[in-house]
Amino acid sequence: MVSLKGKDLVSIRDLTKEEMELILSETDKMIPIARGEQSSKILKGKILATLFFEPSTRTRMSFETAMQRLGGGIIGFASIEGTSIMKGETLSDTIRVVEGYADIIVLRHPAEGSARLAAEISSKPIINGGDGAGQHPTQTLLDLYTIKREAGEIEGKKVVLLGDLKYGRTVHSLAYALAMFNAEIGLVSPPTLRMPEEILKDLKEIGAKIKEYSSLKEAIKEADVLYVTRIQKERFPDPTEYLKVAGSYKVDLKILKDAKENLIIMHPLPRVDEIDPSVDETKHAKYFLQSFYGVPVRMALLKLILVG
Ligand code: NCD
Repeated sequence: MVSLKGKDLVSIRDLTKEEMELILSETDKMIPIARGEQSSKILKGKILATLFFEPSTRTRMSFETAMQRLGGGIIGFASIEGTSIMKGETLSDTIRVVEGYADIIVLRHPAEGSARLAAEISSKPIINGGDGAGQHPTQTLLDLYTIKREAGEIEGKKVVLLGDLKYGRTVHSLAYALAMFNAEIGLVSPPTLRMPEEILKDLKEIGAKIKEYSSLKEAIKEADVLYVTRIQKERFPDPTEYLKVAGSYKVDLKILKDAKENLIIMHPLPRVDEIDPSVDETKHAKYFLQSFYGVPVRMALLKLILVG
């Protein structure tokens, strides 16, 4: 039987397709609780620690909402200001301390590999809330859920990933999952922000159907899902390199003229300038709904890891 009880979630590749499907079907049951229409105490007495060494709005707040909607408690920090990290405490020491306080830990950290390190140290489950330009597996679960619910299914859909495919951790995780669900992957990015070669190689090895487009105009005609990302300014080693690509792509009403009738537009958010606000009023826009789905998906995940 598929079970996630007691497991870590560091990379999306830690999950099998069956495990992802289990989370997605559990999510359906969480929707009325996430909306506040039903209540649940299934995680009463359990404590979630959110350790955020990098800025976050959605990931941290939706985990906190998810835990509280299920009757659990939360501790943690939203920035390292005011913590002993300012005194020089190491990540491993912080984890060793917090595992004594909480039943499960969500970690967001600027260093790639930090969540893997934490999982090796901690006896309590670790969920990766984003490790630098590495992975963001819980975002991928809510992205999959959004595609399934809003586009009908995942298999066979053409999902075009647009933007910063080099530093964007959400698209790194999502691309693997899409390949596992037999979706078609389209890639559009500024030339310097292409999907890293090692990820492309891994994707091809697992049989992913990938097409690289030279422009959004070309890709938009074929897309069932357009997944937009912002340029990850904070990851650029050289600010002048960022300035060269800033503002180089934009989704607006004009480009959508060539879109399929049922196209859905997603974005992990925050948006900077890559989707014009006029698009928000179209039937294609699903990004705010997608951010809501972060709550029931994380409820499902917490329940499956903490109680099975
Ligand atoms: C993303 C992230 O932190 O990687 N945000 C999120 O979790 N929804 C995307 C981003 O910051 O661009």
